[in-house]
Amino acid sequence: MIDRRSVLAGAGAVALMGKAARAAEPDAFRPGEVWNDTNGVAINAHGGGLLRHAGRWWWHGEHKTAGEGGNTALVGVHSYSSTDLVNWRDEGVALSVSDDPDSPITRGCILERPKVVYNPRTRTFVMWFHLELRGKGYGAAQAGVAVADRPQGPFRFLRAGRVNPGIWPANATPEDKAPGTTLARDFPGGQMARDMTVFVDGDTAWHIYASEENATLQIARLAPDWTRHDGYYVRALPDGGNEAPALFKAKGRYYMFASGLTGWRPNPGRVYVADKVTGPWRSLGNPVRGSEEDRKTTFHSQSTFVLPLPPQRPGAEPRFIFMADRWRPENAIDGRYVWLPVEWEGETPVLRWRDRWTLANGWAGK
Ligand code: DGJ
Repeated sequence: MIDRRSVLAGAGAVALMGKAARAAEPDAFRPGEVWNDTNGVAINAHGGGLLRHAGRWWWHGEHKTAGEGGNTALVGVHSYSSTDLVNWRDEGVALSVSDDPDSPITRGCILERPKVVYNPRTRTFVMWFHLELRGKGYGAAQAGVAVADRPQGPFRFLRAGRVNPGIWPANATPEDKAPGTTLARDFPGGQMARDMTVFVDGDTAWHIYASEENATLQIARLAPDWTRHDGYYVRALPDGGNEAPALFKAKGRYYMFASGLTGWRPNPGRVYVADKVTGPWRSLGNPVRGSEEDRKTTFHSQSTFVLPLPPQRPGAEPRFIFMADRWRPENAIDGRYVWLPVEWEGETPVLRWRDRWTLANGWAGK
């Protein structure tokens, strides 16, 4: 039996080591280590996404709590802001779970992978998230949406539900629509929506989510205010078993990191490329370069977002940061963040482990 005190002491020692190292190198990312905010408290923003607004970076993610129960939403979505992407100020809970037992986001629901985008037409911050209704495991498979006029919120919950009821995907074949398929089963009530992201391309926003019992991704266009689907959507990588989608645009094409389906356990990462957001998407294999263990587990992490950095100078190669979660399902609050620079092998984005790296040296020499 493990002595709880020594575990706690060990955790404290790691936190202290992290603190000393960070003091020596305050601009370094340290993938997988405890990452404290500027108050010295571990950042609590899992399955998150980033946004740049008014000269600051904003990080929104799941607020987890201690223990196994901490994977359910007992608090909501936490926000942080930063000017350098390394030092993060706690901006509080941006979206709170509800005390109303009848609310879809009542305390104890599952609220995952929140992504916030700023709609310049409505001057509104729009948050989408994967929602599972309290007490129903992962059966509801809904998408939720909330809005705010500031990135730190408070976000106001608008609605949640399945996606595009009564509408077929634009690329569905007669076989896809045949009775007996998951797509046809869910046609009347709307398509399932689990792991998700939102990707803005010009003035169009897309909701990308694991659907059809996680077999197939769907890519659904949002209406101009970005708080609803507009009815146009496609199936992507049918029967590919992808989740954890994270999109970015580089070199005039669209790229997507994703994972396989192994619950909280990590699995080999995947990367895809397409000429259009709606595909067709083509596999570029496993993006991880490193040991067999690294390749099998994506550095013990699962993708959540890819951050494009502003160009350093006109014409410079764009730079991207891969963001992933190292889940700790038995003590959810202790989940870690794995951020790595996206490198390129020709047209293929690849990832290599770094114990520590900075914006200045992350892309140097490769
Ligand atoms: C993997 C997903 O990517 C996570 O967001 C979460 O839903 C877990 N599965 C639950 O097992």
